[in-house]
Amino acid sequence: MSKVYITTAIPYVNGVPHIGHAMDYCLADTYARYRELIGDDVRFQAGTDEHGNKIFLKAKELGEPVEDYVSKNAKIFQDFITELGVSYTDFIRTTDASHERLCQEIWKRLKEHIYTDRYEGWYCTGCERYVTEKECQENNGVCPDHQKPYEKLEEDNYYLRISDFKEQIKNAIESDEMLILPDFRKKEVLKLLEDSPDVSISRPRSQLTWGVPVPDDETQVMYVWIDALTNYITVLGYPDENISDWWPATAQFVGKDILRFHAIIWPAILIGLGLPLPKVLVSHGMVLSNGQKMSKSIGNVVDPREVLNRHGIDAFRYFFLRHIDTFADSDFTWDKFEDAYNNELANDLGNLVQRLATLAKKNDIVRGSAKLNLPDDYKELMNNFDFSKAFDLVWERIQGINKKIDEEKPWSLAKNGEREKLESCMSELINELLLANEMLKPFLPNAAEKIAKVFAGPIIPPETPLFPKA
Ligand code: MSP
Repeated sequence: MSKVYITTAIPYVNGVPHIGHAMDYCLADTYARYRELIGDDVRFQAGTDEHGNKIFLKAKELGEPVEDYVSKNAKIFQDFITELGVSYTDFIRTTDASHERLCQEIWKRLKEHIYTDRYEGWYCTGCERYVTEKECQENNGVCPDHQKPYEKLEEDNYYLRISDFKEQIKNAIESDEMLILPDFRKKEVLKLLEDSPDVSISRPRSQLTWGVPVPDDETQVMYVWIDALTNYITVLGYPDENISDWWPATAQFVGKDILRFHAIIWPAILIGLGLPLPKVLVSHGMVLSNGQKMSKSIGNVVDPREVLNRHGIDAFRYFFLRHIDTFADSDFTWDKFEDAYNNELANDLGNLVQRLATLAKKNDIVRGSAKLNLPDDYKELMNNFDFSKAFDLVWERIQGINKKIDEEKPWSLAKNGEREKLESCMSELINELLLANEMLKPFLPNAAEKIAKVFAGPIIPPETPLFPKA
């Protein structure tokens, strides 16, 4: 049994969740459940990123005290991931008093790698980051993600000397000591690292009030990314506690848009603290809506609760884990979602369970016991975080069982009185289904539990279909 620590990116709470936010959680939860299934001891962090100007300004715009505003939205995020069946063990808010204190301790421990300097250049409030002259020019002065002009800034900042760590980070990435998945992103990161300047890690209080104060300097507040990244270890109690049982993380899940922070700044902080680097950074693609990036101005933002309410948690997880590719950008449309539900979940899986259980009950079949050994090809894909492909394998098996029933026609065996043949055929089919169901557990824990129950003792077909057709 190994100890496994899994983390997810903590979303900003300047709004409510959209379907893109579900990706980190669906993937991390699938991995967590898989590791539990193979007998590991799992700790699983989730949380919310609550500081920064973007959030402060939004609360102001709504006329709400910022503390109330972030608490309200943090709860909405937490409720959402609970509804999604995410098996997190720890939930951290960056406004937790303990996090703020530990974060300040961490700052003090990094002191020898921190210096002050004057910054003059471009900044995007949407991204909460500085932008190089080159990037500003390439984008014609407007942030492509937020459609807002970059702001010119001139201020005193603290900097983290990335140059102190560059060589070590490069070696860790090249040697896969810190594995970056998928491989093409690893190459991008190595390229970015080459030109990576030292990073600013504070803002003057005049620019940013809603943040963690820099220790021993009343004029400066920590830049959100420093406060945010450290959540992965403060949630374990660092630096008060020895975290070596759980750190380094087994896998950290992030979207491709924030990989650079996790692959450059985060390792720099860790090396500065004398801590090991995460074993794997899994960087997923973006969920698009009708082929486009989701944006309020286009009006194509999909509310995840609406998707959840449509056909429930299994349908949600099914679509996002199988039809949204783990590593590439993929598209959500209501049509695709409905098709996947009706043609695959309801037809392939729901009908299979109903059909087999009904046949078994009608013919008094008792399930012969079999060991459910997860197949090697499945384990390999799961170990490599290639979840959508692993899910394809599960589905191929489900479709294979349907095909086998059609070919072997157990109802004819029953009709012809071929009892022995019928029993062995049915027991084989049921065992195959139960093995597929075992493989399904990390993806659709809810459905898998219901299916396991149907075949657990005397076989009882579900009274209502598992996935009623819409
Ligand atoms: N607060 C930072 C993360 C700090 S982690 C120390 C942040 N927040 S976010 O709300 O913008 O994004 C949270 C997560 O959701 C990120 O992993 C991000 O990539 C992911 N996604 C946000 N929009 C997404 C899609 N449209 N599709 C897939 N994932 C998306 O960044």
